[in-house]
Amino acid sequence: MTADRPYFLTTPIYYVNDLPHLGHAYTTVACDVLARFMRLDGRRVKFLTGTDEHGQKVERSAQARGQTPQQFADEISGAFRDMGRLLNISNDDYIRTTEERHVRGVQALWQELERRGEIYLGRFAGWYSVRDEAFYDESELVDGPNGSRLAPTGADVEWLEEENYFFRLSAWQDRLLAWYEAHPEAIAPRSRRNEVISFVKGGLKDLSVSRTSFSWGIPVPGNPQHVIYVWLDALINYITALGYPDTDSGEYPVFWPAELHMVGKDILRFHTVYWHAFLMAAGLEPPRRVFAHGWWTVEGQKMSKSLGNFIPPQELVDEYGLDPVRYFMLRELPFGSDGDFSHRAVVSRLNGDLANDFGNLAQRVLAMINRNCGAAVPEPGAFAEADEKLLGEARALLGRVRPLIAEQAFHLALETIWRVVADANRYVDEQAPWALRRTDPARMGIVLYTLAEVLRHLGILTQPFVPDAAADLLDQLAVPTDARSFAALPEKLPPGRKLPAPHGIFPRFVEAEAAAQS
Ligand code: MSP
Repeated sequence: MTADRPYFLTTPIYYVNDLPHLGHAYTTVACDVLARFMRLDGRRVKFLTGTDEHGQKVERSAQARGQTPQQFADEISGAFRDMGRLLNISNDDYIRTTEERHVRGVQALWQELERRGEIYLGRFAGWYSVRDEAFYDESELVDGPNGSRLAPTGADVEWLEEENYFFRLSAWQDRLLAWYEAHPEAIAPRSRRNEVISFVKGGLKDLSVSRTSFSWGIPVPGNPQHVIYVWLDALINYITALGYPDTDSGEYPVFWPAELHMVGKDILRFHTVYWHAFLMAAGLEPPRRVFAHGWWTVEGQKMSKSLGNFIPPQELVDEYGLDPVRYFMLRELPFGSDGDFSHRAVVSRLNGDLANDFGNLAQRVLAMINRNCGAAVPEPGAFAEADEKLLGEARALLGRVRPLIAEQAFHLALETIWRVVADANRYVDEQAPWALRRTDPARMGIVLYTLAEVLRHLGILTQPFVPDAAADLLDQLAVPTDARSFAALPEKLPPGRKLPAPHGIFPRFVEAEAAAQS
């Protein structure tokens, strides 16, 4: 990997027919960690998120609320922007599919596909699910209650017959397979890549890419009775945000192909089959990588409207605090797998990894320095073997974590960092600096200096995951804001630098009832 290649990273654009919940927060936080990591690592980053605002589902939801689709979309798109602020998301751009820059780009791509003979007018007859905004083959449907037929996702389907434009997807099967073959890292995790390949090997039918039975969408150029199929419209956001159709100047030549599209497993097919075929058909390069993460259940149950168990991100942040939520999401599961979001699991991570392990380490060290070293960075002397060993582990961290982040193995990156937290805690117990205070104050200084240096490394490396807590720790070590990038890791804390009064960075979570009784 070239270290200085610009890094363009995207979340899916979120449908405006639902309010933000844990699932959206998850995708967005994972991307934010990557964006922050790459910036700290010196890469030029563009981190894009936004909202997907067209389609029949949005038109129907707006109608049900007595609003115009645009009013409705404005409101919910605002709620997704608020989610970004709440979760401390560092996106560089926010695209809405109702924006002029997007509409222009989508129509230009359509015309390009038409010019190349990739789109033709035909007649569609088949099953459509408004909830999934997807077409299904008869053979894919499953039996529902009372003799009804359902999409494989459990969504209702309706029979649709209309004049539609079609994209010649069937013609792309072999070229798609050849591309996947030539780019083994382009779809992750591996099991998902295999699923995509076998889907494409199973044969591709031409894809209906316009609709006439509703109007909330981007009109087909030259035939405005048709609106462009919402997935074609939505996927193109990744390049309209870079200024497409201008591919020669501006951001497009800098940032395309994207380094990574992060998506949930449910929308992988759209992002690796349809999207790649659209791009190749228009003579554009596919993204370098698409990663499909897993899904959360909540206390063992699927999140659903009928169960009413969607967790709004605000509720999580109010209950546990922002950084603990960010940490939990990325530490609890192997990224790519499904998992369960339970109160017990969050509290156990929060009180274990954060409060007891990392928080307590920082608190102990900073308090001892404050009390015993005149509230200033202590004087190091000749390091003993144990000091060098611990410092060596801290200094080796970036080299170990970087390849894990490059593969989106967040849980392993955190596990690796926390191994040094554990080493440091063991070192504190073994060296017992509180006892050295009387017996060997110079040695105490060296031990506390070693620990402060390790904390500086930990503070810098945890910034992408827990930005506020890491900043708080680095403030307490008086590390200047321009010395917090990964390039500054080899710098050392200057002995004698005054330190502010210390305070905890990760408070313990106390259950409400227990707190009320005490
Ligand atoms: N609008 C489309 C994406 C178009 S991108 C060109 C869409 N939007 S969505 O709002 O329905 O979903 C966005 C993301 O939220 C998906 O990546 C999806 O996987 C994720 N999640 C929704 N529920 C989830 C969980 N329960 N758990 C984890 N992620 C989940 O699809």
